[in-house]
Amino acid sequence: MAERWTPGSWRDRPAQQMPDYPDPDALRAVEAQLSGCPPLVFAGEARKLKRALAKVAAGEAFLLQGGDCAESFAEHSADNIRDFFRVFLQMAVVLTFAGSSPVVKLGRIAGQFAKPRSSPTERIGEVDLPSYRGDIVNDNAFTAEARRPDPRRQIEAYRQSAATLNLLRAFATGGYANLDNVDRWMLGFSKDSAQSSRYRELADRISETLAFMRAIGIDPETHPEMRTTDFYTSHEALLLGFEQAMTRIDSTTGESYATSGHMVWIGDRTRQPDGAHVEYARGIQNPVGLKCGPSLTPDGLARLADLLDPDREPGRLTLICRFGAGKVEDHLPGLLRAMVREGRHPVWSCDPMHGNTIKAANDYKTRPFDAVVSEIANFFAVHRQEGTHAGGLHLEMTGKDVTECTGGARAVTDSDLGDRYHTFCDPRLNADQALEIAFMTAELIKEERVARAVPRRAAAE
Ligand code: PEP
Ligand code: CO
Repeated sequence: MAERWTPGSWRDRPAQQMPDYPDPDALRAVEAQLSGCPPLVFAGEARKLKRALAKVAAGEAFLLQGGDCAESFAEHSADNIRDFFRVFLQMAVVLTFAGSSPVVKLGRIAGQFAKPRSSPTERIGEVDLPSYRGDIVNDNAFTAEARRPDPRRQIEAYRQSAATLNLLRAFATGGYANLDNVDRWMLGFSKDSAQSSRYRELADRISETLAFMRAIGIDPETHPEMRTTDFYTSHEALLLGFEQAMTRIDSTTGESYATSGHMVWIGDRTRQPDGAHVEYARGIQNPVGLKCGPSLTPDGLARLADLLDPDREPGRLTLICRFGAGKVEDHLPGLLRAMVREGRHPVWSCDPMHGNTIKAANDYKTRPFDAVVSEIANFFAVHRQEGTHAGGLHLEMTGKDVTECTGGARAVTDSDLGDRYHTFCDPRLNADQALEIAFMTAELIKEERVARAVPRRAAAE
């Protein structure tokens, strides 16, 4: 029998990656204030996302999850949000149309502020200071004052998330996402790039299809689903005091939901089965993600799945695999088989970012585009071998023309990295690279569908 869960029962467990707040009274005051604030998302929306993810788990849809590694207070602007949303919509259209698959759209946004770190302190020269843990905890500047965890930043993160979500909801339902606009979502900065012309071609085909549909009486005026889109939010549930303060009981079901985002996930560093993060996540009813890195064993995963999804609820669990391009074949088959053996059907998603981080010669943290591509291809290949559905992608990306990951059609080189390296944490795909990933993934989705159809046809004959 699992022990009784409450939104605060994680406090009795060992908690990794938590900041040391110097003023516990100030922390308590902030948590009390947050627990009285309006929820950012509703339980009904989280349930709707869970139903959509159940379709992904059943092989009937694809999950696109992406956004910044870390959102920041300094970069909070309408332009940034619009550019992100625009490239995200473009990618979703590519996957939907070229891959002929419904796409579940899930941003790493409106709450993705807290970061796990490999070391609790950072040394520059002779000076040791606490590591930067994301804008919700402390400031990136390398001074003792900036690095001191300040609980009031949680209020700021909450308010920024509310403002971001407000704009995203307006974009998703207020006309911007109308399919009739498909040719207007061109990348602002690179209308002449290879990806842009591929996208334009696809947009032309969609416009033609829409004209045909209009002719037979199906148009955005009569079909609201063509005018609007469902866009969901997600982040790593790392800062558990904040998450607890944002947990609410849903009045219609009496169950607890994280209202800080539609989905939350557990990071690769905080997935200890008897640790605080798993304890918190097991009791909320939202869809939950679990990062699966090379150190996760098949038995370890089986145990975590029992804890996080004891009722085997469709759409509840998304396994976000991040092994590194060359390690997918070593690790994924064992995990897949363990889940199949247990009769489980989670969403399998590929994070081709976090296992492929390297240091360039000039010391920039980067990710080679080829390694990202190769991890995705290997992920699909293993699913093909095992007869399971490669269900989704989890990307660190931005709508801006940054130079943080090397490679891609426009070949960002090591020496370009300094030009526009803006990330607050890990290197992100720029808009062009992200769109290129969408095109290549659409091909893989198509191949998977053909491969699945062949045995079915053979069986029918
Ligand atoms: C992240 O998603 O930014 C992250 C820290 O990932 P992981 O937990 O997989 O290392
Ligand atoms: Co990251």
